[in-house]
Amino acid sequence: MLELMTGKVHDEQRQGESYKPLPGEEKAYKKKFYIESYGCQMNFSDSEIVASILNEQGFGATRNLEDADLIFLNTCSIREKAEQTVRKRLTEFRKIKKQKPGMLVGVLGCMAERLKTKLLEEEKLVDMVVGPDAYRSLPGLIEEAGDGHKAVNVLLSREETYSDISPIRLDSNGVTAFVSIMRGCNNMCSFCVVPFTRGRERSRDAGSIVAECTDLFERGFREVTLLGQNVDSYYWSDDSSGKAVTFAELLEKVALVSPLLRVRFSTSHPKDITDQVLYTMAKYPNICKYIHLPLQSGSTRILQLMNRTYTREWYMAKVKRIYEVMPDCGISSDIITGFCTEAEEDHLDTLDIMEKSGYDFSYMFIYSERPGTLAAKRYTDDVPEEVKKRRLQEIISLQNKLSLRSNLQDIGKSFEVLIEGDSRKSSEHWMGRNSRNKVVVFSKASFPMLQKGDYATVTVLDCTQGTLIGA
Ligand code: 5AD
Ligand code: SF4
Repeated sequence: MLELMTGKVHDEQRQGESYKPLPGEEKAYKKKFYIESYGCQMNFSDSEIVASILNEQGFGATRNLEDADLIFLNTCSIREKAEQTVRKRLTEFRKIKKQKPGMLVGVLGCMAERLKTKLLEEEKLVDMVVGPDAYRSLPGLIEEAGDGHKAVNVLLSREETYSDISPIRLDSNGVTAFVSIMRGCNNMCSFCVVPFTRGRERSRDAGSIVAECTDLFERGFREVTLLGQNVDSYYWSDDSSGKAVTFAELLEKVALVSPLLRVRFSTSHPKDITDQVLYTMAKYPNICKYIHLPLQSGSTRILQLMNRTYTREWYMAKVKRIYEVMPDCGISSDIITGFCTEAEEDHLDTLDIMEKSGYDFSYMFIYSERPGTLAAKRYTDDVPEEVKKRRLQEIISLQNKLSLRSNLQDIGKSFEVLIEGDSRKSSEHWMGRNSRNKVVVFSKASFPMLQKGDYATVTVLDCTQGTLIGA
């Protein structure tokens, strides 16, 4: 599971992302809703499904909080801080609700699922609590809440994949889009709350995934990211033909939509990514040469406590295999520091694997104990806070060095870059990414004919730790 942040240290709130007026927003809808998403890419993708379900029922999206009759927060529970951010945001809504008494507030996503009705007791202004598998019931729940009853649906499903729903692209750049391919997780990493909040693994109908990607391409999108907690365990069997589709086969089907459609995916579990996936990636130039391969810890002893089911040697062998099949592949990672009983030598093992893997970047976190997880039940959160912080700093410093080293090696090379829009710092420059997922900024003047959504071949002249700078 890769979260949507680009910072060095991951701070779950991609704070309060709202969106530009949507096509048709000015239409006279019976009610308007405002939705904010926190946490992983899957949550952002789910908010687009929620928007579609509400739109079908005649509700219009607004990016203006004051105009909204319904406010939804799509929440994250992965670390305690993520939940605190949501609680703080809820307190900010109190004032608005006082001014507009009929307005309804709904909490969606992982916090809703984890806390259930407790959330209603703890946060009095909340009217609806809706888990990630219950979004189809939103129209009914809104009606119930509108009648003055608190409305809750936190049922988890073994089947729900929202496969027939075409997401409404919120806050879209019109070039890149997320496509959900599976939901839930069966892995039970001991630190992780996701299997409890998102339920059992299930895969979405392959035909509906390819249809969604084809539709996106026809509407001008040029990159899709196939999303799932553990994409490599994607497995869908077609009841009519009895034929099963693996993740490698799905990747191939999506790559064949058009050579101009880039394909990315996230997240891979090191234990599940197969040679077949690597060969498929190598075979198609439009499948991006980039793998997010969370390590979590470099110590075999800690990995065992985390229930990751691989050793440090096994992980290193996987990295070696990736580089054998695709020498130019970028790899990134998630790392947790200060897990229960982590000693200095375990920490050094993590630094060692980071160095050996040569990550382009990493998302790095301090361990946060989550109620109900295996780790919370079995182990003591015994690494002192200041040790956790110091180790995190060391991990960040090393990653910064690795990122800069990797970018310096690209100076003088040329890359195909998909233009996503203006550079954040200047409208005279384009911003895009290369296949390896590195951000490339370059002058528009060098490419006067190009537009957002076009590909440019850019030669790298300079770099910072986070960006390649082109001609
Ligand atoms: N504490 C800290 N980080 C966590 N992650 C998952 N659970 C926890 C936790 N309890 C991290 C893992 C995962 C990423 C999405 O979040 O590194 O890969
Ligand atoms: Fe959590 Fe592990 Fe599943 Fe990722 S693979 S969502 S870390 S349980």
